[in-house]
Parts: sequence; structure tokens; C-alpha cells
Amino acid sequence: TENQAFSTQIISWYRSNPRELPWRGITDPYKIWLSEIILQQTRVAQGLPYYYAFSEAYPSVKELALAPESEVLRLWQGLGYYSRARNLHSCAKYIWFELDGKFPDNYQDLLLLKGVGSYTAAAISSFAFGEAKAVVDGNVFRVLARYFGIATDIGTGKAKKEFEALADQLIPKSNPGEFNQAMMDFGARLCIPKNPDCGLCPLKSTCFAFQKGLVKELPVKINK
Ligand code: ADE
Repeated sequence: TENQAFSTQIISWYRSNPRELPWRGITDPYKIWLSEIILQQTRVAQGLPYYYAFSEAYPSVKELALAPESEVLRLWQGLGYYSRARNLHSCAKYIWFELDGKFPDNYQDLLLLKGVGSYTAAAISSFAFGEAKAVVDGNVFRVLARYFGIATDIGTGKAKKEFEALADQLIPKSNPGEFNQAMMDFGARLCIPKNPDCGLCPLKSTCFAFQKGLVKELPVKINK
């Protein structure tokens, strides 16, 4: 189908253009969670040293749970949005003391963690547990809006639902984690907001926006 063609091409692009990141190719849900919380409001380059510092100081949920909050906040210094650090620590204590150290192992249970929304739950459940839940953020909105020609205002709840439903249809059950990583990287490196180099894009022949000359018009964002 058309959807399979999209997923196959995105994954094939990713296999030739992978970003080497320390949280790639691992399945430890704790480390993936740590990386995703750090990356929620932070760029990869800025988050990297913090990911290294935290995974060294707290190699598992146990060490994080047993650390004093003051120390966790000190290690977080410079990243901003300190509620992320407080939630991280409080979730670690919850997992260690209330869940017997067993990290939540599916999308629905991950959503119950403070600071974990649909994007982060989809990232952890697909990377660590192979669950076919698609990540949807600004990058994914942009890639899907352009490729499929979707003009829904991406600032609306309707768009979030619509794009999540589409992305969950596109994500292959065979390798959902790789698809999610591919979408993240494709949106961050090729299908970028301004002046994307569509000449280099392996999907250009079937991309709605490219074919209709609407790359600049999509996605639609109506400023409020
Ligand atoms: N942004 C959010 N999650 C990410 C990840 N796993 N890799 C790269 N960028 C990201």
C-alpha cells in the first residue's frame, strides 16, 4: 500500500543517515526515559552532556530513587524547566518503592508517570518494548502534513488526534522503534521547517507538497 511505501522509504533513508546518539540502539527503558525527559524542551546538542552525567551518576532507577533531590537538581542545573528533574526523581522513587523497581512496560502504564505524555510514552514503549505507538511532535506534523497534503491547523487538538491516528497507521508492527527514530531524524535533518533540500529527498516523487509546490505552505499553523 501507499502507507507501506512511505514507512519503507523513511526507514531506508534512516538506515543510510542515522544520527549516532547514545540512547539509540538500547532497550533499557530507564535510560530511554531519561533521554526523552531531557529532550522534551532541550535540543540534542545541549542535552547530550546531561544525559551522560545522569546515566553515569544514576545508572539505573535505583540510584536515582535513592539520590537526594538536591543532588538531582544540582546535576540538572543549566537545563531549565526544573519540574522535569523533580518529576524524574519522584517517578524513580515511585518505581523503586511502589512498583518494586519494575519499570512500567507498556504505553498505558507509562502515561501514568508524571511528566510522561503521549510522545514520551510512545518513544519509550516503541524503543524499549517494540510497541507500535507512533511519536508525534512538531517534526512529525511537518513531515506528514507535507507528504500527505494535510492542511489541518497543527495548533489544534483536532490536528493532534488526526496526525496521531495517521502515524499509528503508518508505523510498522515489525520495527516500530526504528520507524519512530527515522521520523525524528527525517524531520530534524531533511524535512526541516525552512528551505528543506527537497532535491535530496528520496520521497519527493510521491510527496504531495513537493509535487504541488506547497512545501512552504505546509504544515498549516494559524497564529493565535
Ligand atoms: N527528540 C526527542 N526524542 C529524541 C530522540 N530519541 N532522538 C533524537 N531527538 C529526540
